[in-house]
Amino acid sequence: MKRPFAELSGTGSYAPPRVMTNDEFSKILDTSDQWIRERTGIRERRVSSKDESNACMGKAAALQVLEQNGLTPLDVDAIVYATASPDRLLPSAACDLQAILGAKNAAAFDVGAACSGFVYALNVAEGLIASEQGERVLVVAAEKLTSIMDWTDRTTAVLFGDGAGATLVRRSAGARGILASYMKSDGTLAELLYRPGGGAAHPPSEELLKDHSYYIKMAGREVFKAAVLSMADACDHALQRAGLAAGDVDLLIPHQANIRIIEATAKHAGVPMDKVYVNVDRFGNTSAASIAIALDEAVKTGRLVPGMTVMFVAFGAGFTWASMVVKW
Ligand code: COA
Repeated sequence: MKRPFAELSGTGSYAPPRVMTNDEFSKILDTSDQWIRERTGIRERRVSSKDESNACMGKAAALQVLEQNGLTPLDVDAIVYATASPDRLLPSAACDLQAILGAKNAAAFDVGAACSGFVYALNVAEGLIASEQGERVLVVAAEKLTSIMDWTDRTTAVLFGDGAGATLVRRSAGARGILASYMKSDGTLAELLYRPGGGAAHPPSEELLKDHSYYIKMAGREVFKAAVLSMADACDHALQRAGLAAGDVDLLIPHQANIRIIEATAKHAGVPMDKVYVNVDRFGNTSAASIAIALDEAVKTGRLVPGMTVMFVAFGAGFTWASMVVKW
């Protein structure tokens, strides 16, 4: 087995206290708890308040990671921030976090890979260490999706939630760390899951607000099929690159979009569901943050303990998909 170059050290997460149930959606949209549970596995999600910005949620998760490592914000060499819902379009969410954290010695930038963002960001962090840009790279994944979803569209609104997760990537001291990873994209399918308006091509206008093209649009059925195929591809490649078989995986942490996608991915990968971490029922789809939040929960509840082999697999808008095998 390859000796890992970089390891993940410490985990943190933040979930807004406001829990929104499916029944609450059925009061404002033509939907039901039964439909949402059967088609997605989601029971409830977290909804951030006005005071819980994307960067504030990221900061809460990041501080837990720094504390576990005995570090202060001044020790951070770089912040790599994965998000599809930054508080503003310019500058980056990473710079917002750098400011409120007081990480005065850190480079800071965002990674835009939607729901694959956390796994992409971990790869970027490993690369920064390899190119000697720093030794302690804070990877934060945070989403405030409830601000950019269309609350009048039942086909998307019921799916998303808010939250943040974080970890620190540093040079591996021993057997712990990243064993293999894989990243892929297909931008020709971008319009199956996207925000049509609000960027430089379609700047904010009255019309854009009226036709709701500022919000996330999705062709659910097509995205579902692509997610299943892509996550299968990602599992295969990560295991192959790590020189491991499905039986070597102690815990699979997939992107939490839909329980049916998670089950199909686990089945393809050959990992039984009792080795798959699932919290989509409690959080819905938190995009880039989903694997980061699940990872923190898995560690804090003792599902993931040192010595285990964990595999992350993600899929998101772009399309992007990615996987990573880590010796914990
Ligand atoms: N409540 C009730 N009915 C709903 C609904 C809701 N919230 N959302 C959609 N429907 C309706 C549709 O309008 C459609 O009605 P019609 O047959 O009268 O046209 C019917 O349910 C079936 O819609 P369909 O889109 O075929 O359902 P589905 O089984 O594919 O489930 C998703 C829809 C969105 C749950 C599913 O496609 C999915 O999870 N896709 C992937 C989404 C995702 O994970 N995106 C992020 C990737 S990172």
